[in-house]
Amino acid sequence: MNHILSVNQFDKDRIEKLFNKTSIIERNFHKGSLFHYPNRVMISFFGEPSTRTRFSFERAMFWLGGKVISESNSDSSSSLKKGESFKDTFKTLSQYGDLIVCRHNDEKWINFAEYSSIPIINAGNGSQEHPTQSLLDLYTINKELGRLNNLKVMFIGDLKYSRTFNSLIKLLNLYENNEIYTAPAEIIWHCDSKSYLDQDNLTRINLKEIENYLPEMDVIYFTRIQKERFNSEDIEYFNNFQLLKRHLEILKENSIILHPLPRNNEISETVDEDSRAIYHEKQIKNGIYIRVALIQELLDEPKF
Ligand code: NCD
Repeated sequence: MNHILSVNQFDKDRIEKLFNKTSIIERNFHKGSLFHYPNRVMISFFGEPSTRTRFSFERAMFWLGGKVISESNSDSSSSLKKGESFKDTFKTLSQYGDLIVCRHNDEKWINFAEYSSIPIINAGNGSQEHPTQSLLDLYTINKELGRLNNLKVMFIGDLKYSRTFNSLIKLLNLYENNEIYTAPAEIIWHCDSKSYLDQDNLTRINLKEIENYLPEMDVIYFTRIQKERFNSEDIEYFNNFQLLKRHLEILKENSIILHPLPRNNEISETVDEDSRAIYHEKQIKNGIYIRVALIQELLDEPKF
């Protein structure tokens, strides 16, 4: 079964094909669907809060002419609450539809995807991975800057538990000469992307130094603190930096500011109107297009 569980399943070739398809979808989106799946059903099965990921998947499925069964609180209102295992849950859900989009804070749920007889897309497994978010982030970078190599990318925020950071850093690493800067340096990485720590192209910076590096950056990627995964003393590290209007003066003219959202206070609202702050429109819209392309890829897989 062709699940999408990790960015490790994507190489440059697959990404290029996906982005080509996504840009065709983007160009034609307003004209209505290019593909029609009126009898196909997507099950969105979410056990952690979501606004963009769940709604963009559902919007994507509606654009494809399909139907959606939506569970936004699987932890308290599905039989997981009664102690049903992920194995039994996926066996059951696969009787009701053609595709499952799943998010849960237990990072190990992806190990049970094999019990589903329909494809499953990982919409977040704890602090580990969020492959579709990082694919849309990468698509956004490519579209706005015209390249995926020779980039200087700064990540500011939750390097410990942010799954979007964890997934995107792996994808950026597929391309040549990308320099990665991460702040705050004090944070110990939790996720498996820590294997990237020793690489020559990684610079860890203190919060106080951020301003010195900002003028060189092509991409500045913020994440909120995953308060639900942290204990309080760690959170102290983060209370020292907020992107403010005055910082915009030192940024490159053709840089971009990204955030998977939701935002807490990492970026001041006064930054939002700047044309480089593309998290509220372009980045969100790209999430729909990329998910249309991914759903279409999976629904077109022959069923065995
Ligand atoms: C992120 C997530 O859920 O991982 N949001 C998203 O999916 N766009 C980021 C977050 O929760 O901080």
